[in-house]
Amino acid sequence: MPPPIHQTFEAHNFVVCSFVPRMYDYHPLGIPVPYNHSNIDSDEVLYYVDGDFMSRKSVTKGQITLHPGGIPHGPHPGTVEKSLGAKETKELAVMVDTFKPLWLTEEAMKIIIPDYYKSWMEGK
Ligand SMILES: [Fe+2]
Repeated sequence: MPPPIHQTFEAHNFVVCSFVPRMYDYHPLGIPVPYNHSNIDSDEVLYYVDGDFMSRKSVTKGQITLHPGGIPHGPHPGTVEKSLGAKETKELAVMVDTFKPLWLTEEAMKIIIPDYYKSWMEGK
């Protein structure tokens, strides 16, 4: 199911989605990881709390990702294949989608991983 199915809270200017341990889609042709997308109406911040994040190869527990509105993103190379046949996930993450652009603070600038965008390239 696409990420909106995980929405747990809604305000006039943002939504919160909670990714918690759960069974995956059990249809024989179901693909557990989310598809590539670009949120044209919102910036997307995800905090990875715990577990194995099926759609990401290089994101680890405690990290935060920011995907500005309109920037395509989705499963890392190889994660779709890895997810096939998976029955459940233990991932725990919180996502906030804002309906106005976010601004990075100086503190956030200090923890940026400059090569993050390269994580969608094969072999990275
Ligand atoms: Fe997204």
